[in-house]
Amino acid sequence: MSNIAEININGNTYSLPIIEGSEKETAIDISKLRGQSGAITIDPGFKNTGSTKSAITFLDGERGILRYRGYPIEQLANKSSFLEVAYLLITGELPSAEELTEFQKKVSRHTLVHEDFKKILDGFPSTSHPMGVLSSLVTALTAFYPHSTDPARSWAQVNLSIVRIIAKMPTFAAWAYKNKVGQPIMYPRNDLDYCSNFLYMMFGLPSTEYHADPVIADAIDKLLILHADHEQNCSASTVRIVGSSQASLYASLSAGINALWGPLHGGANQAVIEMLEGIRADGGNVQKWMNKAKDKNDPFRLMGFGHRVYKNFDPRAKIIKRAADDVLGALGVVDPVLDIAKGLEEVALQDDYFIERKLYPNVDFYSGIIYRALGIPTEMFTVMFALGRLPGWIAQWKEMRENKEPIGRPRQVYIGATEREYVSIDKR
Ligand code: CMC
Repeated sequence: MSNIAEININGNTYSLPIIEGSEKETAIDISKLRGQSGAITIDPGFKNTGSTKSAITFLDGERGILRYRGYPIEQLANKSSFLEVAYLLITGELPSAEELTEFQKKVSRHTLVHEDFKKILDGFPSTSHPMGVLSSLVTALTAFYPHSTDPARSWAQVNLSIVRIIAKMPTFAAWAYKNKVGQPIMYPRNDLDYCSNFLYMMFGLPSTEYHADPVIADAIDKLLILHADHEQNCSASTVRIVGSSQASLYASLSAGINALWGPLHGGANQAVIEMLEGIRADGGNVQKWMNKAKDKNDPFRLMGFGHRVYKNFDPRAKIIKRAADDVLGALGVVDPVLDIAKGLEEVALQDDYFIERKLYPNVDFYSGIIYRALGIPTEMFTVMFALGRLPGWIAQWKEMRENKEPIGRPRQVYIGATEREYVSIDKR
């Protein structure tokens, strides 16, 4: 294959280098095109635009493949642990037994947050969505550790800041929930594993003893692994672009949390359950809602269906669907919403509209059902996604800074008014 692409603009031909990735993906490097020809490329929503070269996650949406640092998601979900996957994503390699123990120890040592965070938390009314509280608390970390996230000063400090945020996110997440339900916050317990400690801070109360159910802690660990990275999605791109201005790690991660919140991205897991409950309350007529989703005059979309990059089954959805059955079985939970979800999936997979557009269930279609079975309240679903996605965001931010990527600054095609004279207000 020639490693040059040619483009003809108004009779002039320009040569553009072709880049090939390690999985044989092909990209045309247009970075010099404007300088040569005056033309830019346009691609709203970056549907066909690569923003970076990355060595973190490989995804093939046509073949339903997802790998972190080369390791298939199925193997990681079944055999690894969330902290091991976090280590893998952030450092590039699986840890040795000693490295993992050391990493786990460090994380459990930093779970406590400064007492002043309680004052910040107190300022949020109980109507606050936990995602807003979470992003605010993560931004507030910049005030407590002002210089520790600047690689220009010290990568050693940055690496400590990375451990800090991985350790403190469950504390922030659980406290955001406690604030919402008006219960006293629980301090972290460093003798517990990552997910059991989170569950303890979420559901524990000072007056009663709480022991996390290992079935629940294991299921959460698996869900966090499945969400840990997904290459250049909306929130990861946000983290990279905010970080490209050399904003701090914590500021960039907070921006990522806000990007994730939207219902077209991580907020879909909450939206799916609300949709399924709505269908149930409406009598459970799945076909009626399918028709609404297909009607271009109706803004309703089937939440949890479709994906920008998966044009085949989302491999994460397959694992989660199986896990949902296992978890519900193990906990003896019967959820009528699961039957509606299965019915909806069955109808959608045979419907021409969904087949033509290659719309399959995505990761969020079944994750909400598991979270519900595990006792996680609906408004916390997207927070759970954020907990899982954290190492991915960190890895993306770190890679961007290590590679000294330039500030993200797209161009535009201006379509507004051409130059015109200002008219004073009395003459308008
Ligand atoms: N229900 C009905 N129609 C849909 C849906 C849906 N869920 N998703 C896409 N379509 C249609 C869309 O109307 C369009 O039809 P047409 O070609 O006739 O105009 C076509 O399918 C292509 O959709 P698109 O909006 O151009 O695709 P996109 O890549 O811009 O959007 C998406 C991807 C995920 C935002 C979209 O599929 C969607 O809104 N899904 C529902 C929300 C959701 O589940 N989001 C979670 C994504 S997975 C978690 C994550 O990683 O963020």
